[in-house]
Amino acid sequence: MKDILNRVLELTKIIDKANYEYYVMDNPTLEDYQYDTYMQELLELEKNYPEYAFSNSPTKRVGGEVLSQFVKVTHKVPMLSLADIFTEEEVIDFARKVHDVSPNATFMCELKIDGLSGGLTYEDGSLVLGATRGKGTEGENITQNIKTIRSIPLTLPNGASIDVRGEIYMSRKSFASLNEKARMNGQPEFANCRNAAAGSVRQLDSKVTASRKLDFFAYTLIGTDCKTQKEALEYLTSCGFKVNPERAFCKTGEEIWNYISTILEKRPNLEYDIDGIVIKVNEFDLYDEIGYTAKYPKWAIAYKFPPDEVKTKVESISFQVGRTGAITPVANLEKVFVAGSMISRATLHNEDYVLEKDIRVGDYVIIHKAGDVIPEVVRSIPEDRKTDLVKFSMIKNCPCCNTPLIRKELEADWYCPNDLCDERIQNSLIHFASREAYNIDSLGEKMMINLHNEGLIKSIDDIFRLRDYFDDLITLERMGEKSVNKLLNAIEESKHNNLDKLIFGLGIRNVGAKTAKILCERFPNIEAFKNASIEEIADVNNIGIVIANSVYEFFHDEYNLSLLNKLEEMGVNTQYIQTQVKDSYFSNKKVVLTGSLQTLTRDEAKAKIEEFGGICVGSVSKNTNVVIAGENAGSKYDKAVQLGIQIMTEEEMLEKLGMR
Ligand code: IVH
Repeated sequence: MKDILNRVLELTKIIDKANYEYYVMDNPTLEDYQYDTYMQELLELEKNYPEYAFSNSPTKRVGGEVLSQFVKVTHKVPMLSLADIFTEEEVIDFARKVHDVSPNATFMCELKIDGLSGGLTYEDGSLVLGATRGKGTEGENITQNIKTIRSIPLTLPNGASIDVRGEIYMSRKSFASLNEKARMNGQPEFANCRNAAAGSVRQLDSKVTASRKLDFFAYTLIGTDCKTQKEALEYLTSCGFKVNPERAFCKTGEEIWNYISTILEKRPNLEYDIDGIVIKVNEFDLYDEIGYTAKYPKWAIAYKFPPDEVKTKVESISFQVGRTGAITPVANLEKVFVAGSMISRATLHNEDYVLEKDIRVGDYVIIHKAGDVIPEVVRSIPEDRKTDLVKFSMIKNCPCCNTPLIRKELEADWYCPNDLCDERIQNSLIHFASREAYNIDSLGEKMMINLHNEGLIKSIDDIFRLRDYFDDLITLERMGEKSVNKLLNAIEESKHNNLDKLIFGLGIRNVGAKTAKILCERFPNIEAFKNASIEEIADVNNIGIVIANSVYEFFHDEYNLSLLNKLEEMGVNTQYIQTQVKDSYFSNKKVVLTGSLQTLTRDEAKAKIEEFGGICVGSVSKNTNVVIAGENAGSKYDKAVQLGIQIMTEEEMLEKLGMR
């Protein structure tokens, strides 16, 4: 038994160390598969010897039981927040006031990470509690979720009993991929990294939190004899926490302002969002002397960057017809510069949004970029309204084809029900051929608009009839024989796509890529879709009544049925083929991709190799079987040569994947 315990402790140490090197130091030292092997072994031991399944085992990183609610916890030391300042004068003034009381005070300036604060309690080196800030004195116990954040140590090397506070955040990269997934699945997206982090941390199922890739920067230490913030940050680093290396020690208000200016320039290139700089008096023993206001400490302050929100005027409101017929009101604005680009239009989402915010033509409004990408009108400024402006009212007919619009119960959008509406068709065609949907190479947005305007593609079935119009295609601008052939081949090739791609491509309301797949698992051909009742559709896991209704309606619409018939006649695959891992050259081989590929993106190549049974790993070791070297391959290529590992070109890979 002692041997078992020793092995459990040994594995814990190895895995904790690997986590630290990967997530804190950003310097992986263990191969993914080795990590997985150790993890499997530990899971197995914990299953067989539950007495050795410790509460701070690295196996807890993947999440555990589902809570029914969060339990409140009182913070031993309140979690303070800070007063905000916005200008250079206020920065200088803050330093002056501190120096009036404590002339020798110095300052530590840190980035103000845009996430939410979290408090961690360690007892005898063991993480025993993770909590949200809540109202400052009382937060919620989120220990389960905190343990899934890989850069937070579960045990401390020195066995200390300390409280650590810091910012739980989501990197821009993780945020983008989370939203990308949501988009693909037709789910709502998070507006920014902070909302995504906050939404992920308060999940009752910690497996969901674990999947969200949160991170943590430690910035406050309670319970040691450190004398300064500088020392405290160094101590936290030595305990294995991720501490932001971007910080500055300053002596005067001017030095602080200079530092703020340098950060403003670095801000766009950071891996995470920041909304300002936190300025803290460095010497802890001066805190009491400098004191507190009713709400905030006077020894620290938050300089907030000017918001990426700007004021402009709504010149008119127009209406766009989306691919599913949904009508989106769009504000046409007096041009302004927002978050890096010139904006003249911003979405108003839907009728309810405009009415609720009371946005009128002629109003001054605040706009920003939702998720830092899509310009959105945040609110109107009614105080700035000079004359009586007409209250917004939704149009009753389609702006493109004049068909009366409809709005269904439970839905926020008005729809143009006309299957032949031109704008709707153009957008649905663009969607159909797009990478995420039917993925027809060479048939991107511009090409589709061109072919639609030329009258060569009026509906989806026309795409597959294009080969009869070779002579017309070749006369189009910038279309030689070679590019026409390429386009026609790509279209022919796409006919073999799996059914879920077709279902998503058809643009059924409320059906995203993931939903399409789930539906196809249950209804594996068009006949099955046609025969399904609303109840049967709603009976499928994860499918609600709104989706069921739109799917049912789609498959009972004359136009759609005749379209599907035509597609079938032209040889478009309408069967769902269960995707299984294929047996191939890559089966069970550890594959490393390096350098830049020409025909596939990294993600596509990875997905393909995995589909063919390969295991993609991040770094080259003696256990690697194949290294696929794209252009400008660097150190991984050199290492493969050194270790005598098989090196494959992109062409050879495509051949082995049956893509050449
Ligand atoms: S120190 C008494 N340092 O900004 C000191 N806060 O109002 C309290 N924040 O609620 C916080 N980065 O969520 C501190 N490097 C940093 C920070 C930081 C982000 C957040 C924190 C706090 C708010 C300040």
